[in-house]
Amino acid sequence: MSALAALGARLLRYLPPEVAHVIAVRALAVGLGPTVESTLDPVLNTHAFGLDFPNPVGVAAGFDKDARAPDALLALGFGFAEAGTVTPEPQPGNPKPRMFRLEEDRAVINRLGFNNQGLDAYCARLAARQHKPGIVGANIGANKDSEDRIADYVTGLNHVAGLVSYVTVNVSSPNTPGLRDLQARDALRDLAGRVSDARDALAGFGAGPLPLILKIAPDLADEDIRDAVEVAVEMGFQGLIVSNTTIARPETLKSPNKDQTGGLSGAPLMGPSTDALRIAAYVNKDRLTLIGAGGVSSGETAYAKIRAGASLVQLYTAFGYEGPALIPRINRALADLLKRDGFATIADAVGADLS
Ligand SMILES: Cc1cc2nc3c(=O)[nH]c(=O)nc-3n(C[C@H](O)[C@H](O)[C@H](O)COP(=O)(O)O)c2cc1C
Repeated sequence: MSALAALGARLLRYLPPEVAHVIAVRALAVGLGPTVESTLDPVLNTHAFGLDFPNPVGVAAGFDKDARAPDALLALGFGFAEAGTVTPEPQPGNPKPRMFRLEEDRAVINRLGFNNQGLDAYCARLAARQHKPGIVGANIGANKDSEDRIADYVTGLNHVAGLVSYVTVNVSSPNTPGLRDLQARDALRDLAGRVSDARDALAGFGAGPLPLILKIAPDLADEDIRDAVEVAVEMGFQGLIVSNTTIARPETLKSPNKDQTGGLSGAPLMGPSTDALRIAAYVNKDRLTLIGAGGVSSGETAYAKIRAGASLVQLYTAFGYEGPALIPRINRALADLLKRDGFATIADAVGADLS
């Protein structure tokens, strides 16, 4: 990474978190981000959803809500980039301030509430990069004031199809009142069925089958995680992201911001989200491809998710704290850990801790 980019990343730490974030995304979008030499270890190559991932470390949804910088994020060394959450109509989100650093805890609390420019702006940007290489997924959601939230997901799917490599159905943000109720079994069956039908209808028009991924909260009871897996399989989804942010507040939190309302992410989420991932993996028995998110900040934490059943991982909060140099560092450390333990591929290590 250039000295200038490293300095820029460090200076952003002194700004309020949402301001720093907006500047970082805009800087990436205009090409000010560093580009990592692609000297990635082949042990990191992995195949999932019918796609070849150069490495299993993706940027989680929320960083690039409006799809401004997916290619710049891929150039930082991410193996894939998930843009969104996008809602059909633009919406401002919750009043500011709505994003808080918990420095002492290496965590963030956010209650952004799906602030985004809506599908038209999002799809125009994706259309402009349509023939570029690299795996970009769309994360879709519902507008706060929508009268038919399921219809919003179908609208999202229909708009982004053909522009992305996969679609994530996000029913787990804590910042849109009632949204997480869509995770309950009957509601989820209704939602997943309609989205899946819409996907299948598109495939009839010559498009390949678009992989569908469900993203769940870490706060679900064990039987709700089991239901989510079963419904996702039954409705023809291909993947599950475990997890979104948590509304829980672990007692270990030290930061003065710990009682802010919103979703907690970062280091304190590693344990709970990996526990939820493990439960999903036990029930799943390799039917869905699992993606581990929550507290990934190092080769060790990425490796722990893989050993708990994840084929891919995603991160956001640690990237915000540590900047772009973190991504090649995680990939190098992960490659070393795989080799240390005698794994020739990521796939060989998936679920190694489960038996
Ligand atoms: C500021 C912020 C905004 C987020 N926005 C979204 C979002 O729009 N959609 C979504 O599915 N997840 C969103 N997330 C959740 C992340 O994608 C991820 O699941 C979660 O933060 C756990 O990963 P981490 O501990 O590496 O941050 C957001 C997270 C943060 C910190």
